[in-house]
Amino acid sequence: MDTDLCEHTLERLSNLRLPRHLAVIMDGNGRWAERRGQPRHVGHRAGIRAVRTIIEAAARLKLDALTLFAFSSENWRRPKGEVRVLMELFRATLDRELERLHQNRIRLRVIGDRERLEKPLRQRLDHAERLTRDNAGLTLVVATSYGGRWELAEAARRLGEAVRRGEIDPEQIDEECFAGALSVPDVCAPDLFIRTGGERRLSNFLLWQLAYTELYFTETLWPDFGLEDLGAALEDFAGRERRFGRTGEQLGRIRHA
Ligand code: IPE
Ligand code: IPE
Ligand code: MG
Repeated sequence: MDTDLCEHTLERLSNLRLPRHLAVIMDGNGRWAERRGQPRHVGHRAGIRAVRTIIEAAARLKLDALTLFAFSSENWRRPKGEVRVLMELFRATLDRELERLHQNRIRLRVIGDRERLEKPLRQRLDHAERLTRDNAGLTLVVATSYGGRWELAEAARRLGEAVRRGEIDPEQIDEECFAGALSVPDVCAPDLFIRTGGERRLSNFLLWQLAYTELYFTETLWPDFGLEDLGAALEDFAGRERRFGRTGEQLGRIRHA
């Protein structure tokens, strides 16, 4: 990859207690362009560089998984021209980067409603997933045409079908079984969530998986997001105490006066 990541910063970050899985809402492309008096698509194109930076950083820091929200179920409501630019940008970026992702042993998974994507893009996604299926490095999950409610409804439908076929009994449906029916059941829930662009909402992202994720919001617009911004989020995460319902004492917390 040809981003210019600072080795010194990477080394400093690699000594932190890092998330295994990082999930990101890449927001603020449109505003980035508008502030420069440019049309919104300029911001989407500028955002690609930040995508490369975060993928390379996640791989170099040896995170298990990185999930990027590229296009939501609700983004279909945007003007046709903007949707076309976003889909075309996704296709072109995949064509340009796939070989390099594969060389870097990255396993690509795409989640979301593929039926709504155009066939050439769907075929490329199938090919990219097949090509990288056995890679043992970073799992890169790209959420496109994705909504958390869509994913939950899909899981419920799959379980319903399994019940109808007599493969499972309704009594067997517990949290573990339900999680197994989600889009990427072999990837652990995100430990850290980052949203750029200043909005403080989930916008229908990973509704099940974010139940106990640490949330981090930054005003930085996505095209400006770089290694230093990622570092600030990782440092913040490293300082948090994750209790999962227990008390601090139970976790053996060392209290400072
Ligand atoms: C994020 O940037 C990219 C997508 C949603 C596809 P936006 O396009 O939402 O940018 P803002 O939020 O309007 O600035
Ligand atoms: C969320 O961003 C989706 C992606 C970043 C792909 P939006 O900018 O579409 O979210 P809302 O509509 O402001 O909540
Ligand atoms: Mg936005």
